[in-house]
Amino acid sequence: MTTTEAATPTIGPADALLFELLATPEGRADPYPRYAQLREHWPVHRLALEIPGSSAGTWVLTRFDHCQAVLRHPRVGKDFNAMQRRWGLSGEELAAQQTFSSERPSMLFSDPPDHTRLRGLVSKAFTPRTVEALRPHIVRLADEVLDAIGEGEVNVMAALAFPLPVSVIGEMLGVPAADRPQFQRLVRASAAALEPFVSAEVLEAANGATLEMEDYFRHLVAERRRSPGDDLLTQLIAAEDHGDQLSTQELLSTAILLFAAGFETTTNLIGNGLLALLRHPDQLERLRRDPGLLPSAVEELLRYDSPVQVNGRIAGDEIEIDGHAFPAGATLLILQGAANRDPRRFPDPDRLDVGRADGASMSFGTGIHFCLGAALARVEGQVVFGRLLERYGRIELLDDSPSYRDSITLRGLAELPVRLQAA
Ligand code: HEM
Repeated sequence: MTTTEAATPTIGPADALLFELLATPEGRADPYPRYAQLREHWPVHRLALEIPGSSAGTWVLTRFDHCQAVLRHPRVGKDFNAMQRRWGLSGEELAAQQTFSSERPSMLFSDPPDHTRLRGLVSKAFTPRTVEALRPHIVRLADEVLDAIGEGEVNVMAALAFPLPVSVIGEMLGVPAADRPQFQRLVRASAAALEPFVSAEVLEAANGATLEMEDYFRHLVAERRRSPGDDLLTQLIAAEDHGDQLSTQELLSTAILLFAAGFETTTNLIGNGLLALLRHPDQLERLRRDPGLLPSAVEELLRYDSPVQVNGRIAGDEIEIDGHAFPAGATLLILQGAANRDPRRFPDPDRLDVGRADGASMSFGTGIHFCLGAALARVEGQVVFGRLLERYGRIELLDDSPSYRDSITLRGLAELPVRLQAA
């Protein structure tokens, strides 16, 4: 086992690349060439910069096999606060690291046994079988949204990519339609805390947004208690009533997580995916001619420009991966977008191929936190791209370089203006 980089790293070309990726509009617009350089030259890189709250060091991983090994490792976890306390962080360091996630544990930021319990309470609603039964309904919802759009110039992000996923998860959870739009702003503010480097102001805004969402769900829970529905929230309330299965705070955090994760990422699958197809007209036409390719096309669009680019873990003990040693308490940043373009895993990785059959990408993660909503997101993607191509004979990109929103963990477009012409 070797320690691959000096204990006191100096700022070098890999850090410069990471700075471009994380902090410049050019890096955001096209992270992939920078990912490739990192993956080929510095696949396991220790950051020169110390992130507040991670004094054991932060490493950035970009190769598929390394990322997979971290996410599946039994001694890495996600309960950042508990681990950091265990590894002797000062109160000050911990305070600097306080985020909504660590204060308000949900399955996304907990380790077994809490993770197993929280995930188990809702997992049945998201199995491929349950979700498949929803497909006809999702088709109807998609058609309603597309009917409202009609033809002509449209910003896909506002008119389709947000309204459809938020309706699907909103109905499953039991959030009334009129209340849904306000959540886009709130979820974005709170998800900003998932970025690798977060300022105090961003963190404060994230916490504020989370509190607002908690307030909303506290009221909705009270209402559902009075008149139960046929929805997930009602099921969660029943679990809370059963005593030790779910605390009130966990109920609120779970509702917020399901709602937020249910639309923010799928929105970006629709936006990033449609942009990729429009930039590869041969692949778009291939899919139009052969809708049987929709399942593999959605997998490929997820791989090609993943809605989630960055994931994170903390080492619970000293661990070793492929000869690289990481000390207990090390923060491990997993660049999923880079792993998805690893030529060792995906031949000719920069080519978009809607018929690709190379197996799952890293976009839904892997291991115990593998995306709970993967089957739902897949069906939504298949329905959206299928209905778009069936209904519109021509889809024209009106801005060759639409800009990405100011975040790297969740990668998505600010706007996607297109012109639609019926088939
Ligand atoms: C294209 C769309 C989506 C992408 C790319 C995506 C991606 C991910 C990723 C990468 C993770 C793993 C995080 C980790 O390893 O720490 C995750 C977890 C999760 N996702 Fe998704 N997701 C999508 C859609 C959805 C949908 C529609 C839902 C519906 C509720 C959902 C709910 C969740 C939940 C609850 C978790 C936490 C699972 C756990 O911690 O055990 N996701 N997602």
